[in-house]
Amino acid sequence: MHTREKMNIVIVGHVDHGKSTIIGRLLADTNSLPSGKLESVKEQCRLNSRPFEYAFLLDALKDEQAQGITIDAARVFFQTKKRNYIILDAPGHIEFLRNMITGAARAEAALLVIDSHEGIMENSRRHGYMLSMLGIKQVVVLINKMDLADYSEQVYKKITAEYSSFLSEVGISPLEFIPVSGMQGDNITQKSGLMKWYKGPALLEMMDSLSKNKSLSELPFRMPVQDVYKFTSMGDNRRIVSGTIDSGKVKTGDELIFFPSGKKSTIKSIEVFNENAKSTVHSGEATGFTLAEQIYITRGEMAAIKTEPPPKVTSRILVSIFWLGHQPMAKSKDYIIKIGTARSYASIEEVRKVIDASTLKAEKKEELEKHDVAEIVLRLKKPMAFDLASEIVSTGRFVIVDNYEISGGGIIREALEDKESWARDIVTKRNFQWEKSKIPCTQRAEKYNQKSALLLITGADINESKVLSKALEEKLFYEGKLTYYMGVESLIYGLDADLKNSNDDKTEQLRRLGELCHILLDAGLILIANVVPITTDEIKLIKTMVNPDFIEVIWYGADQATDISFDLYVDSSQSVESGINRVKELLQRRTIIYSPW
Ligand code: GTP
Ligand code: MG
Repeated sequence: MHTREKMNIVIVGHVDHGKSTIIGRLLADTNSLPSGKLESVKEQCRLNSRPFEYAFLLDALKDEQAQGITIDAARVFFQTKKRNYIILDAPGHIEFLRNMITGAARAEAALLVIDSHEGIMENSRRHGYMLSMLGIKQVVVLINKMDLADYSEQVYKKITAEYSSFLSEVGISPLEFIPVSGMQGDNITQKSGLMKWYKGPALLEMMDSLSKNKSLSELPFRMPVQDVYKFTSMGDNRRIVSGTIDSGKVKTGDELIFFPSGKKSTIKSIEVFNENAKSTVHSGEATGFTLAEQIYITRGEMAAIKTEPPPKVTSRILVSIFWLGHQPMAKSKDYIIKIGTARSYASIEEVRKVIDASTLKAEKKEELEKHDVAEIVLRLKKPMAFDLASEIVSTGRFVIVDNYEISGGGIIREALEDKESWARDIVTKRNFQWEKSKIPCTQRAEKYNQKSALLLITGADINESKVLSKALEEKLFYEGKLTYYMGVESLIYGLDADLKNSNDDKTEQLRRLGELCHILLDAGLILIANVVPITTDEIKLIKTMVNPDFIEVIWYGADQATDISFDLYVDSSQSVESGINRVKELLQRRTIIYSPW
């Protein structure tokens, strides 16, 4: 069956400038309403002796599902001969930003409504700015309520001139400025006889002439992982990695890399909800894959195809942000950042410049206030995967959450280097080139009856923690585990014999340690490394070299005096035996070793 083309259009503008009226009119004049609806709403108004409003149609239709027209919270569906439209009536900035950035709605074009009587208002400018930030290129300006302006060409020209100069400053050149009256129906579905001076198309014709954003499926493949489902039927241990494809396309047999973890696997089958299995899926489709080799993937990873340009991965980004929070965005505070399905904490490293979105004036500020637009550097708590908005707009957007509310959002302009960038580059290349053995890690884990792990044991006293480390190795070994105590100091005379003791060499030592651990973890071991002292930066570097899912940091000492964040604190004033048991419990909790309870 031929599926009809769909297009999402967002309608924005200052409050009361006539968005709902225009949509109501569009529905009425295209005969998209259920029969009798218009009359019954008019009758209702008459009975309540209030004037009829086209905007009321939207409320009246909220529960209707009949005749192919449905309206939910903010979306209106209707169709022309050419295609189906979904119009997003954005009641405010927050809903609009949230919908756009979370991918709940992906507008391909925008209608910007301006009341000819009231003229350009703050939100006319802000919304223009937001559209440009969100990369919506097709913009049509509707100069509404022309009936109140006596259908005057002068009024139209004045607003057009003023607004187009503002929009050009934010990089938008509207396809058309259409003078309309939502209330009277001028230039909505048909050219109006009252504005002969206007030579362009009416709104409906304009909409049908907008072009589909086809390019999205031509871009590199990106799918933020939404969820991983496990089949529960007997003997079926497949997992389905699911999500909505942001851009590009994939087919069975494509080799995927997941970012930021760098894990690889090949698509075995493509599962589509309520449909037969497909061999190819495109941007915009919600889908799931089974993979040829089981890898441990969680929500928040971004899938890309190995042979295509990869997303960026770093923990420092330069962004353009639109701040909507009630509280200012402050420098000393941690915020939740969401990019696709991934989340982390972010804080402001630097405020480069703040712009008033309605005047475009730059201000010197250290904090962002409500409605400010700014260019800032964000420091992320952990590296995240994304694209630059200039390359792939859908994976180049983010939102900031403060107090459980979306408080800001924007686009990523640049991926900046962080302390681990150099190591991440090496790891990416290494993973790319890694020769896999034929034995999957799951098979190894099954045979050895354990999962690989790197236990970084640290503390205030190197001798104390060494005792624990060695005793732990012995205990695990005699219980039948494949384990190894790695004397990190011994590496200096062997693996690191060519290095001196300078700072650069210290970093190189850590890199080599990381690579060694990576190999031994691949072999399936539980590695025990006594590393005292160790800093947060050093742990970060090891976590760049070695998959952080495999690392447990254990602090062993008389108290918890450290600023590193650890997975387990073991009190050294207790017996070594009880310390070992604490570590064993951790390994059991993390299902690294079997737990009978
Ligand atoms: P919000 O959803 O609150 O942001 O407003 P809106 O942009 O959806 O505006 P709405 O369509 O509700 O219209 C606001 C008021 O303007 C209503 O009273 C409409 O009747 C009136 N209005 C809308 N379009 C026109 C028009 O073309 N001419 C005249 N005279 N009034 C109009
Ligand atoms: Mg409205």
